[in-house]
Amino acid sequence: MEMEWEMYLFPYAQTVEELKIKLKGIRKEYQLENRHVPIEFVTGRVKPVDSILSKVELRNIPLDSIDTEMEDIAGLRIMCPFVEDIYTVVELMRKRKDLKIVQTKDYIKHKKDSGYRSYHLICEYPIQLISGEQKVLVEIQIRTLSMNFWASIEHSLNYKYKGVYPEEINERLQNAAESAFKLDEEMSKIREQIQEAQRSYSQDKGKNKQKNIKPKKK
Ligand code: GTP
Ligand code: MG
Repeated sequence: MEMEWEMYLFPYAQTVEELKIKLKGIRKEYQLENRHVPIEFVTGRVKPVDSILSKVELRNIPLDSIDTEMEDIAGLRIMCPFVEDIYTVVELMRKRKDLKIVQTKDYIKHKKDSGYRSYHLICEYPIQLISGEQKVLVEIQIRTLSMNFWASIEHSLNYKYKGVYPEEINERLQNAAESAFKLDEEMSKIREQIQEAQRSYSQDKGKNKQKNIKPKKK
């Protein structure tokens, strides 16, 4: 990479690295507390220079204002087991004092025409440079494993077909999006049932404790 680009992108690279550590920390904390972990895994990337340049051209963005006009030069992705976990993570992000959410896009309640689903946060992240503080825009995409599966396949096809799919493929992608959605719904229902079973189990245990007897093993 050209030296000038590398210098320009340094705050973004630093933002991605810092946030990856912080978000992975959330995961660890839940694990330590023996609670349901709402984060499966986290990835991050800095937009490659050629992608920045093609987006600049596509969107007619002046090169000297990409820091305010292009929100996804720094990008983080958080994968969650269940749809409900996405909203838990969003709440966690809202409460954080080290970043500021400037825009939210709920492509779960309002899926895109393509079939794409995810929750996006555009955030301002203050980074400490030797020259002082700089606020960096970062896009955090939060999605289930199922949404991620669909999006990564669609993304690679998009690369080949440049967004214009043959009708048959388009139909299959729509079907696959619907199936991914159904899988998330099924998983959530299973989770609810398990939680319900655990609740009644611990209630029983509570009763038995008072009587000082242990529940019988089945
Ligand atoms: P971009 O120019 O793509 O950033 O569009 P935008 O500024 O209108 O934002 P949008 O919220 O639509 O998309 C931001 C990002 O979400 C994209 O860069 C992708 O990573 C992801 N995304 C949005 N739509 C789709 C989609 O239909 N398929 C896939 N695979 N990813 C999508
Ligand atoms: Mg964007």
